[in-house]
Amino acid sequence: MSGKSNDPQATPVDVVIMAAGKGTRMKSRLPKVLHRLAGRALVQHVVDTAAALSARQVTVITGHGADEVEAALNANRSGEFELGFVRQEPQLGTGHAVQQTVPVLRDDGIVVVLSGDVPLTQADTLQQLIAACDGSRLALLTIDFADPTGYGRIVRTDAAVQAIVEQKDATTEQLGITEVYSGIMAVPAAQLKRWLARIDNHNAQGEYYLTQIVAFAVADGVPVVAHKITDACQVAGVNNPVQLAELERAYQQRLAVQLMEQGVRLADPARLDVRGSLHCAQDVSIDVNCVFEGEVSLGEGVRVGANCVISNASIAAGAVIHPFTHIEGGRPGSKDEVEVGAGALIGPFARLRPGARLGAEVHIGNFVEVKNATLAKGAKANHLAYLGDATVGERVNFGAGSITANYDGAFKHRTIIEADVHIGSNCVLIAPMTVGAGGTVGGGSTLTKDTPPLALTVARARQISIPKWKRPSK
Ligand code: UD1
Ligand code: MG
Repeated sequence: MSGKSNDPQATPVDVVIMAAGKGTRMKSRLPKVLHRLAGRALVQHVVDTAAALSARQVTVITGHGADEVEAALNANRSGEFELGFVRQEPQLGTGHAVQQTVPVLRDDGIVVVLSGDVPLTQADTLQQLIAACDGSRLALLTIDFADPTGYGRIVRTDAAVQAIVEQKDATTEQLGITEVYSGIMAVPAAQLKRWLARIDNHNAQGEYYLTQIVAFAVADGVPVVAHKITDACQVAGVNNPVQLAELERAYQQRLAVQLMEQGVRLADPARLDVRGSLHCAQDVSIDVNCVFEGEVSLGEGVRVGANCVISNASIAAGAVIHPFTHIEGGRPGSKDEVEVGAGALIGPFARLRPGARLGAEVHIGNFVEVKNATLAKGAKANHLAYLGDATVGERVNFGAGSITANYDGAFKHRTIIEADVHIGSNCVLIAPMTVGAGGTVGGGSTLTKDTPPLALTVARARQISIPKWKRPSK
């Protein structure tokens, strides 16, 4: 890399993202660039890569589905850079697309041209491309393909790049060239603007090709450099659901390797899906078919069993999440996030919903649902239960089949179960109510009033037996 590009005073980077195309082959109502890869829209990946380059300005060229694309990107605005949009109607080619950005592009930057449907380009690759441009050259990202069909070919005389020739305009000899243009370039803004003004559509497709500027650079004596890479994933575009699934796997594979390099034990790196960010402390192990969404953190020694889905949750050291557990926390940092305390045991078949906050050594067993409820240290609900809008004290034991009835049809009410309470099986605690500390509630009780501490409370029909009862008979 040149000294210049490492310098904080180096030429500013302005990113242009082409995202006006229709994406017919996705066969979807959703604009192509809004299809999701690892839980994020394709074009969002590209915008996030631009952020990683410390771009000054990011301009997205929209056309098909423009309103939707702009709304989706606006919803994730970060403020780290200027995010703007220009519309391209109709779509007359990549050169015409970039022409639309001329009024908003400043003259002193390096413009990096990216595509909204090429999600996996890495920031360090683009840094190298920017360094190759160095504020004065036209730098093209290229790659060798055994089958270059469909791509623009890099035409060289001796070593020097002369032009990019599109598939439909290429001679038989040029069709044999295997080095192709990736669709990504870095170019000084002022020159780009001059060249864009000269693009014509006198070619086989009658389109304005951005790639025509290479010949203009050569004619103007501006050096053209090709930065050739070998990792095809980084330049692969999404045109159909098959390619989308392929890139999803490539992304997940890359992420699984990163996690294993940090020491995470994955039962099978091919059976992990992370749609967001997963932070793991030391000695975490994850069994097969787990899905992590949003922001999830797993503390030291956490074990996650097979087939768990975990969204927006922080799970403290030593907790065990048994198979088939579903944890669905709300927005990261909000009261709806889910917390699982140190050494807690969750599942199998448990469901933790938004606002479930479990202290250390809490046990939540099979078919137990917890929503907007806090359970203090050592509390247990091991079988078939519902704890919604509840505050549960330390060491409480909540019996099988018992529930908090939190909803009266209009409003939600809270149930408070103080420390050391024992709730029997099949109880209904009709909120609002408080079960006093150390109390016991007999199985089958339906409670509508507060109970005093340390008492046994039973609220059910008394058991009677009628001797020698004769069953009706015909
Ligand atoms: C382009 C390049 C080709 C390169 C290939 C790499 C040109 C003329 N050719 O070809 O050299 O090998 O990419 O994939 O640039 N778009 C718009 N508006 C338009 C046309 C396209 O926004 O009017 C967007 C598309 O949505 C897409 C990107 O630009 O994101 C590239 O367009 P595409 O039609 O795929 O270009 P290719 O013909 O494949
Ligand atoms: Mg294409």
